Amino acid sequence: MRDGNEAAAGAALLSWYDAQARVMPWRVGPADRAAGVRPDPYHVWLSEVMLQQTTVAAVRDYFRRFTARWPGVADLAAAEDGAVMAEWAGLGYYARARNLLKCARAVAAAGGRFPETAEGLRALPGIGPYTAAAVAAIAFDEPAVVVDGNVERVVARLWAVETPMPAAKPALIDRAGRLTPRRRPGDHAQAMMDLGATICTPRNPACALCPVSDFCAAKAQGIAAELPRKTPKPEKPTRFGLAYVAFAPDGGVLLERRPDKGLLGGMLGFPGSDWAETAPAPCPPLAADWTPLSHEVRHTFTHFHLRLRVFVAQTEGEGFTPKSEFSPAALPTVMRKVWDLAEAGALPRRGDAPAPRDI
Ligand code: ADE
Repeated sequence: MRDGNEAAAGAALLSWYDAQARVMPWRVGPADRAAGVRPDPYHVWLSEVMLQQTTVAAVRDYFRRFTARWPGVADLAAAEDGAVMAEWAGLGYYARARNLLKCARAVAAAGGRFPETAEGLRALPGIGPYTAAAVAAIAFDEPAVVVDGNVERVVARLWAVETPMPAAKPALIDRAGRLTPRRRPGDHAQAMMDLGATICTPRNPACALCPVSDFCAAKAQGIAAELPRKTPKPEKPTRFGLAYVAFAPDGGVLLERRPDKGLLGGMLGFPGSDWAETAPAPCPPLAADWTPLSHEVRHTFTHFHLRLRVFVAQTEGEGFTPKSEFSPAALPTVMRKVWDLAEAGALPRRGDAPAPRDI
C-alpha cells in the first residue's frame, strides 16, 4: 500500500462488503445498517467474546443457545455460574465464560447499558483492547482500530510488513489505524474480518478475488502467502494425568467442580491427579476396585499435550451426582473424552497388558 491510497482501498473494501458480507446471527448486514438498524450491543459483545480463539462455525450454535436462554444482559447477569459454565462447555478457554459473567453483572449493576466508547468498555471486567475496540466499532460506530488475527494478516500483506509476529504487532496496529475510516467504521471492521476469513486466508490467499489486491504490496512482490512471518514457537511439552470415573449402582457419577482459578477453572470434571511431566502416583478419590482402561485420552491445550489414564469403578459413596442431573454436554471437551471412554467401557487393562493406545 502506498501512502495516500488508504481511502481508496477502504472504499473498495466497503463496496465488496456491501455485496459479500457474510450472514451471521449476531450481525446487522450492511443494507440494514444503512437503513438505520442498529445491532444489539449485548449480541455484539457476546459474539466477540465467543469468537476469540474460536471460529464462526463453532460459535453459531452457542450464540443461539445463549441468546435463547438469556435474551438480554440482565438475564445473563442473573444466571447461576454453573448454568453459564455448562452452556459454555466445549467452547474452550473457560476463563472467557467466567469473565463474561463478571462483565454481564457489572453492566447490569450499572443500569444494564453497555458503555458506548472503547475507553468505557475497556473499564469493564474481562474486556481487553480487542473486544473494547470491536464492540465500540460494530455496536456504536466509533472509529476504533480493531485488530484480530485476520486483520493482522490483511494489513501485513497490504503493506508487506516482513517483521515477524509478534514483534510486528505495533506496526500493524498503526497501519490498521490508517485504514480505518471515520464513516462506517463498524462495517469496515467486519469487512476486514470477512476478507481475512474468506479471501486473505493464511495459506492460499485468493488474490484474484480480492477487492484490494491492486493496493497490496505483498501481492505485487509475490509474497502474500508468506506473510505475516512468525517467530517459530517452541514445541509443546506433554503432561500426564489420571482420571477416575466412579459409577453408582443407580447410574450416578462422581464429579467435582474445579477451582475457579486455572485451567478449566469453574468447570465440572472427574476427580484425578495433577497433570505433571511424569506419570503421577495413583490417587483414587475413594476406596474401590479401580480398573484401568486400555485406551488413554489425549487432548491438546494451548501450551501442552495431555495424556490421561482413565480408571473406572462401580461403587457407592457420598456426593455422587444423580444420573438425572448429569449431562455430559456440560463437561469441557477433555472431560467429555474421559466420559465417552469410560462409558464405552474400553477394555479393562490389568497388570502387564499392552501399553495404552490413544483414542
Ligand atoms: N471474528 C471475530 N469477530 C467477528 C465479526 N464481528 N465478524 C466476523 N468475524 C469475526
